[in-house]
Amino acid sequence: MKQIPLEDTFADIIGKAARGRGYDPVALAAAAGNTEAAVREVLSGKADLALIAELAEKLSLSPERVVSIAKGEYKPAAVELPAGVAHYNTPFDDMTVNSFLAWDAESKKAVAFDTGTDCDGVLETLAKEGLTLEVILLTHSHGDHIIELDRLVEKTKAPAWIGEKEPIEGAQTFAVGKTFEVGKLKISTRSTWGHSPGGVTYVVEGLASRLAIVGDAIFAGSMGGGNVSYPSALSTNRENILTLPDDTIICPGHGPLTTVGEQKAANPFFP
Ligand SMILES: [Fe+2]
Repeated sequence: MKQIPLEDTFADIIGKAARGRGYDPVALAAAAGNTEAAVREVLSGKADLALIAELAEKLSLSPERVVSIAKGEYKPAAVELPAGVAHYNTPFDDMTVNSFLAWDAESKKAVAFDTGTDCDGVLETLAKEGLTLEVILLTHSHGDHIIELDRLVEKTKAPAWIGEKEPIEGAQTFAVGKTFEVGKLKISTRSTWGHSPGGVTYVVEGLASRLAIVGDAIFAGSMGGGNVSYPSALSTNRENILTLPDDTIICPGHGPLTTVGEQKAANPFFP
């Protein structure tokens, strides 16, 4: 798969942090000692590096890391997924969504993480590899991630699960802490809510590399907006994703793959 561009620009990052901390452009301009017009220009994409650094500082973002993204210097290192994982990147409006399939080559049992906007890729991999889909695990309930759930369930008869704080029709719910076993794969669940009320990160062990399937909790160089609770989005990411070993591969719901080590070094939300 060709490298997917970063999900968020510097302007998206500053906008998310400003909304999360309750600053409108007027308040942000006052905090930064600048004009509302200048702040609005940055929020619409003007790369005024001095003001970007100033705003980042006021918003408790890493100024150096936001500026590095504004200058196009941060490029996530290419991540090679281990054997037994497939990554799908499907279109949604003017963006794309990631979904994943992992399997145990011996037992031929597979687990799908989200559905993206088109589950044909998953169905093709199942057929090509001779796999049985045992379970569908959902990171959160936002439409772009689960739009094909009905079709994937209908085609595979696999049961779907979602965290109990975010129930939807067609999926059973579980309390965070539950584990799943799919052949030799062991999947543990961690709360990464804040972007959504019951967002879950699935940690997959049993392949050559550990995976964290995080949904929109964290992205390479950014994170999902803290729509429900910005402080909780920050703290659950810190406590439940960034504490994983550095070589853990982060599989986000949007944008390129990355690793825990790389996000500890490059993500502006976690200076
Ligand atoms: Fe989302």
